[in-house]
Amino acid sequence: MAVIGHLVRIKAALFPKLVLDRTPLDKRIEALLREREALLREIEHLRYPQKPAGTYTFQGYDIPIDLIMMTGGGTETFDVISAVHMHNLRRWIGLDSNHTLVEIGCGIGRDAIPLTEILTDGKYVGIDIIGRSIEWCKLHISPRHPNFQFYHFDVKDQIHNPPGVTATADIRLPVDDQSVDRIVLFSVFTHMLRGDIEHYLREFRRVLRPNGLVYATTFLFDDEVLASARATNLTPHDLRFEHLVEPGCRINDLTHPLSAVAFTTEAWDGMVERSGLKYAQRVLRGSWSGLFPEPNDGQDSLVLAPNC
Ligand SMILES: C[S@@+](CC[C@H](N)C(=O)[O-])C[C@H]1O[C@@H](n2cnc3c(N)ncnc32)[C@H](O)[C@@H]1O
Repeated sequence: MAVIGHLVRIKAALFPKLVLDRTPLDKRIEALLREREALLREIEHLRYPQKPAGTYTFQGYDIPIDLIMMTGGGTETFDVISAVHMHNLRRWIGLDSNHTLVEIGCGIGRDAIPLTEILTDGKYVGIDIIGRSIEWCKLHISPRHPNFQFYHFDVKDQIHNPPGVTATADIRLPVDDQSVDRIVLFSVFTHMLRGDIEHYLREFRRVLRPNGLVYATTFLFDDEVLASARATNLTPHDLRFEHLVEPGCRINDLTHPLSAVAFTTEAWDGMVERSGLKYAQRVLRGSWSGLFPEPNDGQDSLVLAPNC
């Protein structure tokens, strides 16, 4: 723009009337100069890339740190958690390049970004209730990978979206019946009570192909797990689950009820069965309680399939 401004000023000084009567050729030259300057700026940026302030660079993306903080962890654990997620998805549910995968609670793309390298011929649909995270994913991931789509549902939630106006029960996944190969949820059912989980499970039953699979993390408790979690206190969240909400369901914090929700395996059995799903795999235990010697991940994990 500096060059154009210069030319216009020189022309105005020399030929004041002509500036007002710009010919089509003048306009074309100006447009070309503008394009040239934009290209030069782009080349400059490619040569000397500057990381935008307040961002964390992950696999070629500069992610706003304030949105990373909404994922329940910080920048110091962001990469390693993503790597564990990818490892577990490959190990327990398998991923093919042509799969259609739905991620509920995709956050800021911790998993969507590495999945762009895997689902090269397939389709990814990411869903979250944090508007800014979805806007960021739409702006930065979808243009590079048009087969990756992101949807915001404005669900009211004390922690993740206080001004929201709808409820989880209103969500209809934006995919056709029996069109999805894989559904994944990392640290999402740990923020939901039974009614909302069952709504999602029924949606999963609707959209999954007969050989489709769900991988979802959760907190599973029984007396032994609770005793160990309280004694070891391994996480930064002081997970004691002192408060019973209903039989088989406990929360950790009365002032923030959805900050951490845990269920018994019996409660999960009921939810899975009522939704027309079944376990495709034994329950995988996590490290959070300190009880299990060979944990699979931080949280416990379930692998589910349609009960055809
Ligand atoms: C602890 S974060 C995990 C984010 C992401 N899965 C990751 O591992 O980086 C929980 C995510 O679930 C989302 N979430 C909470 N309730 C939800 C709901 N009812 N439907 C969809 N997403 C939800 C939150 O907005 C948040 O992004």
